[in-house]
Amino acid sequence: MAFERVCAVDDVAGDSAHAVTVGDLDVAVARDGDDFYAIEDLCSHAAVALSEGEVEDCHIECWLHGSLFDLKTGAPTGLPATEPVATYPVEVRGSDVYVDVATTLNGVTPS
Ligand code: FES
Repeated sequence: MAFERVCAVDDVAGDSAHAVTVGDLDVAVARDGDDFYAIEDLCSHAAVALSEGEVEDCHIECWLHGSLFDLKTGAPTGLPATEPVATYPVEVRGSDVYVDVATTLNGVTPS
């Protein structure tokens, strides 16, 4: 695993997501209360940034058509999206957030 620092904890407002780029991958770092998640920053329905959506109850809602994605599994839990998005290991170390994009947690290949 190759974790790298992607942002500060304070860059991610509560119940929202923050867009970062790791290598050539766009990643949404999402914060649900004190929990952090990292997912592919691309809705599987029509390829818009998920980082602009709202976070609630371990899900992120796509701002365009309202699909919901489980932040732990990347699975769509609300239509119209039917395909999952990649999820990545994330760690909070002190005041910084680290993500490892070398391996996805759910086996989904990023778009
Ligand atoms: S683009 Fe995300 S639900 Fe349509």
